Amino acid sequence: MKNEIIISQNLPEDIQGAIKRQSYDRLFVLTDTTTVRLCWPHVSALPCFNEARMITIGDTDDNKTLASLTQVWTALQQGGATRHSLLVNLGGGMVTDLGGFAASTFKRGIAYINTPTTLLSQVDASVGGKTGINFGGLKNEIGVFNCAATVILSSEFLRSLDYRNLLSGYAEMLKHGLISDTETWAELLRFDFNDQCLYTHLGTLVAKSVAVKERIVEEDPTEKGIRKALNLGHTAGHALESLAMEQGRTILHGYAVAWGLICELYLSTVKCGFPKDKLRQTVQFIRQNYSEFAIDCKQYDRLYEFMTHDKKNEGGIINFTLLGDIGDIRINQQASKDDIFEMLDFLREG
Ligand code: GLY
Repeated sequence: MKNEIIISQNLPEDIQGAIKRQSYDRLFVLTDTTTVRLCWPHVSALPCFNEARMITIGDTDDNKTLASLTQVWTALQQGGATRHSLLVNLGGGMVTDLGGFAASTFKRGIAYINTPTTLLSQVDASVGGKTGINFGGLKNEIGVFNCAATVILSSEFLRSLDYRNLLSGYAEMLKHGLISDTETWAELLRFDFNDQCLYTHLGTLVAKSVAVKERIVEEDPTEKGIRKALNLGHTAGHALESLAMEQGRTILHGYAVAWGLICELYLSTVKCGFPKDKLRQTVQFIRQNYSEFAIDCKQYDRLYEFMTHDKKNEGGIINFTLLGDIGDIRINQQASKDDIFEMLDFLREG
């Protein structure tokens, strides 16, 4: 299971090339109500899309539902899709996850191409074959592992993103730096978001970041072992995201991951000897760029409860990925309730 990844310098040429490499009968393009407006015009005039049938679903993660999935399956069926048809997903993680799942299940599977349009989906969601939808109040509850034929990464799309969405994706890049090597991690901490050549530099870092994920996914495509490294920051991060959702606060996924990294690097220091100076530098970067997530100790029990429901747990035990140092990955680490409360104290008080 491997997807071809193209770091695109010439989007029209690369997208046409990727589509031509597939032998298909009908071509479908999936967008959401935002990407059809902001991203589709970048490629809509290409000859390969002359005969394409458009499918557009609602934007934002609350549309990652069975209802939207049904809409896509119905459009494929009514548009005459066969097992030899091709779906191009043009959008953020919601579109690539849902579109990937629709393609993987329609007539037992048709080929699909991901053209991710947010930084978050470029460095994480669109690569590595995780597809799915939210279900029963749980994120990504239903899905399959099945890679896109090709993933095309173009920094052209990043220009329409606001600063918060850039930062959201950057948190996953920081995670990739932490699980790879000190040089990559240090380069990420030095990055200047006011850089004159922001998108060019970001494009270079995206390529490095995706290479980290690719290496890990290739070794363990279905997350039996080392792919759990990619969950660093996510056990605490998902709990914070769930708490925010319950309280009606809107936070971007990457912000929750960034705060989750503060928590889990602290736990790494306590339990695995992660160096204190690297903890301090990473936490300082996150606090400077991602502001604070306000919690008080009355919410610790609720956060703990969310962590106990994390689908990555095994045998009812909360499962963390921690680090002994940058790149020294320790999967399947357990922590007591006291450890977890102490970790939340660190997030709250610094
Ligand atoms: N988002 C983590 C993974 O793809 O495994």
